[in-house]
Amino acid sequence: MTATTPQQISDLPTLRAAVAGWRAAGETVALVPTMGALHEGHLTLVAEAKRAARRAVVSIFVNPTQFGPAEDFARYPRDLGTDLAALAAAGADAAWTPDAATMYPAGFATRIAVEGLTDGLCGPLRPGHFAGVATVVTKLLNQVRPDIALFGEKDFQQLQVIRRVVADLDMAPEIRGVPTIREADGLALSSRNRYLTPDERRSAPRLHAVLFDIAGKARDGAPVAGPVAEGVAALEAAGFTVQYVSVCDAHSLAPVARVTGPARVLAAAYLGRTRLIDNVPV
Ligand code: PAF
Repeated sequence: MTATTPQQISDLPTLRAAVAGWRAAGETVALVPTMGALHEGHLTLVAEAKRAARRAVVSIFVNPTQFGPAEDFARYPRDLGTDLAALAAAGADAAWTPDAATMYPAGFATRIAVEGLTDGLCGPLRPGHFAGVATVVTKLLNQVRPDIALFGEKDFQQLQVIRRVVADLDMAPEIRGVPTIREADGLALSSRNRYLTPDERRSAPRLHAVLFDIAGKARDGAPVAGPVAEGVAALEAAGFTVQYVSVCDAHSLAPVARVTGPARVLAAAYLGRTRLIDNVPV
C-alpha cells in the first residue's frame, strides 16, 4: 500500500470543512475513535473503516474523564509521531487530534450516563468511566458525523454502552464491533500491554486461555458457576489478581447461570500493576 500522510487536524472548523468537502464530493466517512498508542488492533479497525467508507478519520485523544483518580491517565502512552506514521501506512485520510480545551472548553457541564449496562463488570470497579466514554464518543460522533464508527470488541462493555447511547439518542452512525486482534499466544492486543514486565507478559495469555476454556464448557447449557470458579483459581495460580470472571448475556450484559442464547465470557484482572480485560463469545 502507498503511504499517504493523513491530514492532521486539531481544530473543529478545519475538521468540519474537511468532512464537508468529502460530503460535497459524495464520499462516505468512517470514524475510528482511539486514544493513540496505536497497535495492530487499531490498524485493523482502520482497514475495516477503509472498506466500509471512502474516507477514514481516526481520532486520537487521551480522554481524561474516563480515567479514575488512581488510574494511569498521566502515564498512558502518548507518541503522536509514531501514530501518524502508522496511520499513513494504514491509509487513514485524517487524524483528528483535538486538545483537552477543544474537547472540554470552560463551562463544559454535560455528562451522558448509561444505566443498566454499566451496573456490572467494569462499571462499579471504575466509577465514572463509562460516562466519560459515552460523553466523549458522543462528542466525537457529533464532531465528525461519520456514516459508520468502528470499535474493537476487546472493550465489549464499552461497545454495548456506545450502541445504547447511539440508539437512545437517535444518532445516525452505524456502530460496528470488530473482533479482537490477538498475539500468536492469544493475548489480546492492548496499548496497556507495554506496561507488562517480561515475566508478566509470559503469564498474560492465561487470561484468554481461561476464558476460552470456560466458553467451551458453557456452550452446552451446563451451569457456568463451576467452570468460572475453576477459571478464577487458575488465574490466581498464574499470578493474576482477579476482579471478575463472568458469563453474561451478550446484549444486556446481565450475568447468566447457564447459556441459552448469545453470551460472552468477560474478565478483568491485574498482573502486577497492569489491568487487563478480555472477553470471548460463547
Ligand atoms: O477505546 C478507547 O480507546 C476509548 O475508550 C475511546 C472509545 C477512544 C474513547 O475515549
